[in-house]
Amino acid sequence: MGIPNVVPSLKGDAIVMMDNPQTLISVVLNGLATTIYTNQQRYYAMPGFADRMENQNIADLLMWIRAEWGGQSTPISARDIAKEKK
Ligand code: HEM
Repeated sequence: MGIPNVVPSLKGDAIVMMDNPQTLISVVLNGLATTIYTNQQRYYAMPGFADRMENQNIADLLMWIRAEWGGQSTPISARDIAKEKK
């Protein structure tokens, strides 16, 4: 789904489909600045969740998203999230 020029779809998203969950974890912890593409497309900024969600909840959510939309079944633990916060 997503909203054109506002929010990207997570289904089929390259970051969600990566073998290594590190980029996805970092996006959710730190958010993303507004992105402007050369073809006039753009997305708004995404807020970070490092201070708003428990590590375990982030881990559970990302495991679900990766399984549902990325076909990835590697486990993600609260410790993986903590490591990414450093
Ligand atoms: C915690 C749940 C969320 C997850 C797992 C998540 C995941 C992602 C991912 C993986 C991307 C990168 C897409 C890409 O560039 O390929 C993204 C981008 C984005 N997200 Fe989220 N998101 C979450 C919550 C939110 C919320 C609550 C908002 C809005 C208030 C939001 C707004 C956006 C926007 C605007 C972008 C595009 C940013 C840009 O490229 O400039 N996200 N999200």
